[in-house]
Amino acid sequence: MHTTPVKIRWISACSMMLGVYASTGSALADDILATVSSPDKVLSVAVQLGGDGRLAYEVQRHGKQLIAPSRLGFLLANAPELDGGFSLDKQAVTEHDDTWEQPWGERRYVRNHYKELRLELVQKAQQNRRMALVFRVFDDGVGFRYEIPDQPQLKETKIADELTEFIVAAPATAWWQQAGEMAALEYAIRKTPLSEVGMANTPMTIRTRDGTHIAFHEAALVDYASMWLRKVDGQKLRAHLTPSAIGAPVERQGAFTTPWRTMQIADNAAGLYMSDLILNLNEPNKLGDVSWVRPSKFVGVWWEMHLEKSTWGSGAKHGATTENTKRYIDFAAKNGFRGVLVEGWNIGWDGKWYGDGSDFSFTQSYPDFDLAATSAYAIKKGVRLIGHHETGGNVARYEDQMDAAYQLYAKHGVDSIKSGYVTDAGTAQFHSAGGGTHYGYTDSQEGSRHYLKAVTEAARYKLAIDTHEPIKDTGLRRTYPNWISREGARGMEYNAWGNPINSVDHEVNLVFTRMLSGPMDYTPGILSLEGVKGKPINSTQAKQLASFVVIYSPVVMAADLIENYEKYPGPFKFIKDVPTDWADTRVIHGSMGEYATIARKDRHSDNWYVGSVTDGEARTLSLPLDFLDAGKRYTAEIYRDGDQADYRTSHRFDIVIEKKIVTAKTALQLKLAPGGGQAIRLTPM
Ligand code: NOJ
Ligand code: CA
Repeated sequence: MHTTPVKIRWISACSMMLGVYASTGSALADDILATVSSPDKVLSVAVQLGGDGRLAYEVQRHGKQLIAPSRLGFLLANAPELDGGFSLDKQAVTEHDDTWEQPWGERRYVRNHYKELRLELVQKAQQNRRMALVFRVFDDGVGFRYEIPDQPQLKETKIADELTEFIVAAPATAWWQQAGEMAALEYAIRKTPLSEVGMANTPMTIRTRDGTHIAFHEAALVDYASMWLRKVDGQKLRAHLTPSAIGAPVERQGAFTTPWRTMQIADNAAGLYMSDLILNLNEPNKLGDVSWVRPSKFVGVWWEMHLEKSTWGSGAKHGATTENTKRYIDFAAKNGFRGVLVEGWNIGWDGKWYGDGSDFSFTQSYPDFDLAATSAYAIKKGVRLIGHHETGGNVARYEDQMDAAYQLYAKHGVDSIKSGYVTDAGTAQFHSAGGGTHYGYTDSQEGSRHYLKAVTEAARYKLAIDTHEPIKDTGLRRTYPNWISREGARGMEYNAWGNPINSVDHEVNLVFTRMLSGPMDYTPGILSLEGVKGKPINSTQAKQLASFVVIYSPVVMAADLIENYEKYPGPFKFIKDVPTDWADTRVIHGSMGEYATIARKDRHSDNWYVGSVTDGEARTLSLPLDFLDAGKRYTAEIYRDGDQADYRTSHRFDIVIEKKIVTAKTALQLKLAPGGGQAIRLTPM
């Protein structure tokens, strides 16, 4: 029904074409330029060149059309379009298969197995202008990108519009979030028919009528505008590049490649999460030894400000005093947390800091905070301060001070920094070429340059960066492993503020949308289950614990107040025990917007951890423990919703903590309360 009836003849023998050959001699049908299938032939891509020299691609899964012929190309602002009039110069199909090791991550080893189709194209009527199209076809998805070579006919490429389309063949439901709106990436995920999507951020996940799941996203977003997806009509989506306030959305000199346009494709939601396609499409680690990047948990001077018990700004209620920070350091040392985040330590918070940031100093402390003394106190206790740079979206001001700011932290033994860019979408401030500043989106090409600059400059000082209000994650942590985490979705902070708090299905929605892009600094662990003025949040205590496993981040903040952790020592034990770096990850259950169960094996022991979360529905799920080593006995420490537990009542605190002896043959029953969850620690006996 929604497919576009462009003529395309499928060559079923496509998967056999391995090698290099010229187009002129190929025996392909009229419009088909080339085809390629994935290593196990699950997916196939056909690229078509119409009579007018326009390019399109189609994707099939198990021989069935998934993406109907969809357009490719660009409109340029400074030259005729890269659309139409193409002819093929060369094509090649190659295969790649290797396994690489992550310095930290959801799993230690990642297999990168794909077939690549490379098409070199020429626009003869445009002085032989050239462009290459590269498809990498994996069994669990497809990535493709454009490559513009250095050529005298196009010294500078100003991309006015990218024409890339994704036409979904079968009727589908979408889980998506609006793009280009005020709160940037911090909207709730909504569920609608795909045909009712407006302008969407990626990853956007869809489920077709036959149950196939596709997540649309991009990989390796470097020096390019972030891609939004705009519904054109029916189920046709088109790339929409984040606008620039000063020129074309993308302006590049000489040779360049675009980010990969990606589709992760699986039978179910779990399969999407298990895919490593985004990381595989990024370049290998460029930083060399990154043993200074330390996955770990932290606490901090944070939730108390969001609860309005203290302030970022100076005065009687100032949170980041030396004395108060030492209280957190003592607590961290006593309970095995490596880090203590200190927000509000530096000058600049007293005016309208959000969306402006013009008062921020990144080197001067408020008088009641002694950076040198506090940091030395922490190090003596085996703890590190976590630095904080809130910019208020004032990128220009931050860049001016960046080097001095990084130097200062490095000097005091601070090895990671949380940054922030609180501003309405489109109002970040960037340096202008001729002096002065101008406004723009944080996910613009300029934004992509800035965020990466912050990370690569930080690497020079061996600093890891955890970006809040970031540009979306596109897997660059593979190339720059000091980009340790980011926010990029509604975090726990919304549960402090209200208006509105996060919905009960927020975590399950995140897992199979936002979390497909990479780690999230979600700040779980609010055992008090309340925000400002005691307003309850949509969760049971067990679900708070489960979130430590389900929402992956190598740096995780146990976000609640010290007094609340002291009040609930039982559940707090799980927060102390759970690691943040994994040898392996398995998604046991996954249903879009409903529930998710994830098992992860600790990178530094033989322990496994399981987290399971549900939406507002109570559920009973069977959890076979077949991931455990056969023949071993394990102690399962179970943190489950009690029989009365319900996120809508005061029984949200009803949690049962119990131990069982289990083996790989055991299947546990997970009984999840409405808005509930379960967390399990499995240790070999
Ligand atoms: C927004 C961040 O997400 C939050 O964690 C931080 O506390 C505030 N900005 C202030 O920087
Ligand atoms: Ca935020």
